[in-house]
Amino acid sequence: MKVFIEKDYDALSDKAFEVMKEVLDENDHPVLGLATGSSPEGLYARMVEDYKEGNHSYKDVVTFNLDEYVGIDRNDPQSYYTFMNNHLFKHIDIDPANTHVPYGSTDEAAKEYDDQIKNVSIQLLGIGRNGHIGFSEPGTPFDERTHIVDLTDSTIEANKRFFDNDVNKVPKQAISQGIATIMDADKILLIASGADKADAVKAMIEGEPTIECPASALQNHKDVVVVLDEAAASKLTR
Ligand code: F6R
Repeated sequence: MKVFIEKDYDALSDKAFEVMKEVLDENDHPVLGLATGSSPEGLYARMVEDYKEGNHSYKDVVTFNLDEYVGIDRNDPQSYYTFMNNHLFKHIDIDPANTHVPYGSTDEAAKEYDDQIKNVSIQLLGIGRNGHIGFSEPGTPFDERTHIVDLTDSTIEANKRFFDNDVNKVPKQAISQGIATIMDADKILLIASGADKADAVKAMIEGEPTIECPASALQNHKDVVVVLDEAAASKLTR
């Protein structure tokens, strides 16, 4: 793992964009694995700005998102589909047919989505306070592919901020790429910001790989770039 520690969220987003830019420059038909949540917002803002400056086109880009809540309408303001449109897709020249966000509540829907995911040039990840990547929660076997997940109390608690701070409004399940799906990507870029991620970041980088910290599986990937701000890096022993 290559670990970069940046001063704050702005600097972290600049660094993440540098990594993303290299992938866009090096591939004629980049396939981007994308994430939602607070962590990538700064990166997406930079991608939009860069597009508006005419530096990159997304006409030949294909995207696959990590996850989506179960039981939420696609056009619900809190769906990850809506998030991606609002933060990235509607601002760039990507063909909507080339964007993929999983949807559904069945094993069949999960398998169908997983089968489409091929040749991912870079997979962008955030990390949960409990070490989850995508919505692969602690205890998920490392060989799991896209699947239906019961969200943990910690994840529901963390995400209630998007649902009027009411845990009862947070969906209890999600459809998510599994760790094996994520590990197939050529390159992985994980970003984490804030002190509440410090324990998970430490377990990911310095702990033994264990299913109790899904992100620790990344230690077994050949090309991982981790970009942290100082608060998220504060428990690392270096
Ligand atoms: C989102 C996702 C999650 C988030 C993680 C961190 O698509 O897969 O794993 O990356 O929960 O969320 P934030 O960035 O909101 O702290």
